Amino acid sequence: MKVGVPTEIKTDEYRVALTPSGVRELVEHGHEVLVQAGAGEGSAIPDADYERQGAAIVPDADAVFAQADMIVKVKEPQPVEVARLEPHHLVFTYLHLAPDPDLTQGLVDSGATCVAYETVEDDRGRLPLLAPMSEVAGKIATQAGAFMLEKPLGGRGILLGGVPGVAAAKVMVIGGGVVGMNAAFIAIGMEAEVYVYDRNIDRLRELDLYFGGRASTCYASTLEIEQRLPEIDLVIGAVLIHGARAPSVIRRDQLGMMKRGAVLVDVSIDQGGCFETSRPTTHTDPTFEVDGVTHYCVANMPGAVPVTSTYALTNATLPYVLHLADAGVSRAARENPGLASGVNVAGGKVTYRPVAEATGQPHTELFEALGEGAPA
Ligand SMILES: NC(=O)c1ccc[n+]([C@@H]2O[C@H](COP(=O)([O-])OP(=O)(O)OC[C@H]3O[C@@H](n4cnc5c(N)ncnc54)[C@H](O)[C@@H]3O)[C@@H](O)[C@H]2O)c1
Repeated sequence: MKVGVPTEIKTDEYRVALTPSGVRELVEHGHEVLVQAGAGEGSAIPDADYERQGAAIVPDADAVFAQADMIVKVKEPQPVEVARLEPHHLVFTYLHLAPDPDLTQGLVDSGATCVAYETVEDDRGRLPLLAPMSEVAGKIATQAGAFMLEKPLGGRGILLGGVPGVAAAKVMVIGGGVVGMNAAFIAIGMEAEVYVYDRNIDRLRELDLYFGGRASTCYASTLEIEQRLPEIDLVIGAVLIHGARAPSVIRRDQLGMMKRGAVLVDVSIDQGGCFETSRPTTHTDPTFEVDGVTHYCVANMPGAVPVTSTYALTNATLPYVLHLADAGVSRAARENPGLASGVNVAGGKVTYRPVAEATGQPHTELFEALGEGAPA
């Protein structure tokens, strides 16, 4: 297969979807790899490093899309990229379609087969291609929140860990999955007082063991959250219902209960946001204020630390890239049902049910959309 790697064009996105190690593996499997000139620059990977492992460097994105069968990316296709897609393309990237009916329609109209990193599942139903970026985003969430609490940035002016004789700040993490646990660990490390909320009791049990008494675990009922909110300095929103639009866990009328200059970090913004007042922001202009509360809602948080994120992401994606390139989407999906869950759009149809429900598109079974019978 011809595998193409375009330069990411989303604002402040510096990751790249394949490293020279990935090129080497693909070439050894008999594939051709086309990398757009400069695609690795943001992650400190020069073109020459790709070339040394057997990639061909092509001048621009038009050349990548025109020549490649499989397009490997990081962020969801931007409108100019959607316009380049054709039915023969297999696209493998983050898509986050549930909150984005326009992009969903664009991908349906393109006829391309689109596999979303964030809905690929492992054999225990976990999300192996979301997890590495969730680890990064969780750690950034606390760092960013601590920074935004500083007075010159519009925050309350409180130091997360306090000092001897002055109490620490209070951090509420809503959603104790991969993002939430990593955010909590950094907050604990910074010596804040930490409360982690989830609705999954088994997960709260696990977290309780991991934290060893250094953070409190709490059931995420509306009332429990509301009762704690007035004393909180930093809230990190990290809930997820696989593939679906994020549920709203803090409403606008509840902002009035919070301290002025408190900070909300909405990591779930890529799935539509889990605070009613959230809207996506960028690293260049990461925050806005509503009712005296700072909102940080950057949709590609790991993009800010590409030298870490590119390697964390590609370590996880490479086995799937190889499988898709070796077997094609149809056989790969039959051989690995978890990879089949990643296919969101195929043959002009939405094949992932939560996206169909969230965007109002009809749902079609994957193998029907591919024009084949269901697996035996
Ligand atoms: N902004 C970014 O750059 C960025 C980067 C990585 C991940 N994310 C996003 O962060 C979110 C969390 O990802 P994750 O990998 O931690 O997911 P996860 O599945 O590991 O964890 C989600 C947790 O939310 C809990 N949950 C679901 N509904 C809840 C509710 N109503 N109240 C409380 N808890 C609830 C679940 O029980 C689960 O423990 C996702 O939307 C993901 O796409 C964003």
